[in-house]
Amino acid sequence: MKQQIRQIISKAVREHSLSRDDIILILSCENSHDYELFQAADSVRRQYVGDAVHLRGIIEFSNYCSRNCLYCGLRCANKNLRRYRMDADAIYKAAASAVSIGYRTIVLQSGEDSTYDADAIADICRRLKKLGVAVTLSLGERPYEEYRLWHKAGADRYLIKHETADPELYKKLHPGKTLASRIDCLRQLSELGYQVGSGCMVGLPGQTIETLADDLLLLKELDVEMAGIGPFIPHPSTPLAEYPPGPVDMTLKMLAVARLLLPLAHLPATTALFTIAGDGRERALCSGANVVMPNVTPSEYKNLYEIYPNKSRAEKTMPVAGRRQLENMITALGRTVAGDQGHSPKRKFSRAVS
Ligand code: 5AD
Ligand code: SF4
Repeated sequence: MKQQIRQIISKAVREHSLSRDDIILILSCENSHDYELFQAADSVRRQYVGDAVHLRGIIEFSNYCSRNCLYCGLRCANKNLRRYRMDADAIYKAAASAVSIGYRTIVLQSGEDSTYDADAIADICRRLKKLGVAVTLSLGERPYEEYRLWHKAGADRYLIKHETADPELYKKLHPGKTLASRIDCLRQLSELGYQVGSGCMVGLPGQTIETLADDLLLLKELDVEMAGIGPFIPHPSTPLAEYPPGPVDMTLKMLAVARLLLPLAHLPATTALFTIAGDGRERALCSGANVVMPNVTPSEYKNLYEIYPNKSRAEKTMPVAGRRQLENMITALGRTVAGDQGHSPKRKFSRAVS
C-alpha cells in the first residue's frame, strides 16, 4: 500500500494526470502519506509557478443574492442579514485605495444581483482598468452576451466555482439549478478568452471521496486557470447549520492533488481554510497554493458579507496592516510577493498586458 501510494504520487509529479481510482486512493489513505503528498505538491508548485505569491484584493460590493444555495449565509431566504450595495463610485474608491497599497488585481464579487445591469458592470470594469490592474469578476451566472460585453470592457478573469461535481448533490444544494448550466458558463467564459476560475467545497453534507475525486477530474477536464478549494463551514441561518465543517486535512489534500494535476494553475490559500484553522494559510501555501485573496471591502460592509460565520473575524485587520502582516508571513515561508498583475502563465493573451 505504502509503496503503491508513493508510486502514484511520483507518477502524478511526472505526468500531471491520475485515474479516478488513484485519486480516491490518495484521498482516502491514512495521514502518514500526507506529508509526502504535500511535499510533492510544493515542489511542483515551485517548479511551475515559482516562489511568488500573488495577492488579489477582493471587494465584496453587494450581499444581495437571488439564489438560495443551502450552505450560504447570503441565500435569499436568509432574512437575518442586513443587505447592502455599493455604488460605482464607492467600488472605484475602494479599488483605488487597494491599488495605492500595492494590489495589482482587483476581484469584484457579489451575490447574484441583477440590480447591476450589464452596462453598469462594463462601466465599472473600464474605470478599474484605468488604474492599471487586472480585473477579476465573480458575479455568478449571467447571459453569454453580458460575459462578452464585460470581457470587451477589460475584465480579465472570471471566478465561478462548480461547488460540487456530483449533479444530484448540486441539485439538492442549489434549488432549481443544475450543474450542467454551471459548466456551460465555465465553458463560455473560457471560449470568450477569460482566465477562468472554478473550484469546490470540501466536506459538504452528502459528499463522498468519489465525488471529491470527480471535483478534481472536472477541474482538470476544464483545464481551469484558477481553482479555489475550501472547506464547507456551516452557517447558523441556513438549513445546513447542524452539519460539521469540512476537514482541514482533506481540504489540504484536495489542494495538493489539484496542484499535481494542474501544475500551472493559480491556487488560492482560501479564507475559508484560514477561518477554521489559524495556520491554514501557511499550510495551504506549503501544499501547492500560490495566491492569497485579502478582503479590501470598506470596513462598514465587511461583516455583512457573511457567507459563513467568523469570516470577518479572519479578515479583521485593516488593509495596510493586513497587507504588511501577510507580506511578513509570506517572507517567513521563504517566498516572495509578486509585483506584477499575476496573469495565468497558461495562456497567451491577445490583449495587451501592462
Ligand atoms: N462554507 C464555505 N464556503 C462557502 N461559500 C458559500 N457558502 C459557504 C460556506 N457555508 C463559498 C462558495 C462560493 C463562494 C462565494 O463562497 O464556494 O462559491
Ligand atoms: Fe448567492 Fe453565491 Fe451565496 Fe449561492 S454561494 S447564495 S450564489 S452568494
